[in-house]
Amino acid sequence: MTTNKIPFRLKDFGENFIWGVAMAATQNEGAYNEDGRGPSIWDNFARRQGKIKGAAKPYVACDFYHRYKDDLLLAKALGFKAFRFSISWSRIFPEGTGKPNKEGVAFYHKVIDECLKLDMDPFVTLYHWDLPAALEKEGGWTSHHMNKWFNRYATFCATEYGDKVKKWIVLNEPFGFTMLGYMIGKHAPGKTGVNNFLKAVHHAAMAQADGGRILRSEVSKAYIGTTFSCSQVIPLSDSKEDKAAALKTDILLNRLFIEPLLGKGYPKDDFALLEKLELANTAWKYTDKLRFDMDFIGLQNYFPVVVKHNPFIPIVNASEVKAVTRKVPHTAMGWEINANGFYNIIKQFWKYGAIKEIIISENGAAFNDVVKDGAIADQQRIDYFQSHLQAVLKAKKEGINVKGYMAWTLMDNFEWSEGYNPRFGLIHVDFKTQLRTIKDSGYWFRDLLTQ
Ligand code: FCB
Repeated sequence: MTTNKIPFRLKDFGENFIWGVAMAATQNEGAYNEDGRGPSIWDNFARRQGKIKGAAKPYVACDFYHRYKDDLLLAKALGFKAFRFSISWSRIFPEGTGKPNKEGVAFYHKVIDECLKLDMDPFVTLYHWDLPAALEKEGGWTSHHMNKWFNRYATFCATEYGDKVKKWIVLNEPFGFTMLGYMIGKHAPGKTGVNNFLKAVHHAAMAQADGGRILRSEVSKAYIGTTFSCSQVIPLSDSKEDKAAALKTDILLNRLFIEPLLGKGYPKDDFALLEKLELANTAWKYTDKLRFDMDFIGLQNYFPVVVKHNPFIPIVNASEVKAVTRKVPHTAMGWEINANGFYNIIKQFWKYGAIKEIIISENGAAFNDVVKDGAIADQQRIDYFQSHLQAVLKAKKEGINVKGYMAWTLMDNFEWSEGYNPRFGLIHVDFKTQLRTIKDSGYWFRDLLTQ
């Protein structure tokens, strides 16, 4: 149990600051084929050899489907006032479209009711990367039917849960699932190539705006946002080539989805990939449809990225120089620990001048935790949270409207293609027994939030 002296106080963040903790359906729920749930792209991807480390499967995960009451109690005990989770689309619509599955629908009512009972505000993410497998068969995010399917699903969720849930997140990290899932094939559905990527990008950019409009029209007094992965991009040197590499990487990593949402269309810098995107989709026609005035923007940051010019990498001509190579402090994922990079990227987004409120909707770190005498002394994770929260405070003091912070994640869970090895949780999970043990970082949050 931690006795750390915390260098700031809760009240420094302001009275209405939203303190949340986040998780996602595929990473936590398990019960992948129970009560009428249909398969998702991750269930199928996990069956393909060599795709997921240790041949791990998301089929049981943290068994949140059966243990949600206890897990929500834990979140409450750590002092969190907001609980972010996602809806598994194929639990609601096993076939992606068509008839809703009553038991699946009822499950999220139960989770929402439990949150409300515990006085934790539910923040519901509509899409956290788990497309129904039935829709992937028809092309998934590359299909021009995608927006029709997504809009139906979003309308259903908004009308079904909108009386109780007021805080909504449309998409989780569209760059993440389009790049990893449709360009390099590291994530489900494992598709590759620029053409798949560009189509997926356009349909995801449409979905984030459509989703916002649907929630606005169906849910009274809704507070609507969507999330973006982001990383400060730093050129390795001052050379013209490295700077050009950084600019291109920045377009992809940070600008590709926020700019159309803000009504600016896709980034128009001289950059072959995006010129192609304009051509491929005559996207200029859609500038208005791609725009939606979100109440908040969810920023998700884990590390900054250092890049150098690399002529062998197509389109971006850039490659990352990893933290390990640069010999700087990093997490078990190899991600650089650098709270200043976090501050800089928050500032970069705020500079658009068009974002009303920012919520840090994910931030956290994986380390090789050791359970000793029933405790986990994860001082490195505490340091990570502490320095990153100080960066939030610094941004707030400069007038950047950061309204909330959500730790990733409540408990160790299924980390996508990395399987169960990386542990990001405030709570340790023994995946053989499902035993939960609060880590010192969990107690650290409790000390901060309940002081
Ligand atoms: C983010 C994802 C989240 C989790 C963290 C570590 O990109 O949104 O689900 O995997 O990374």
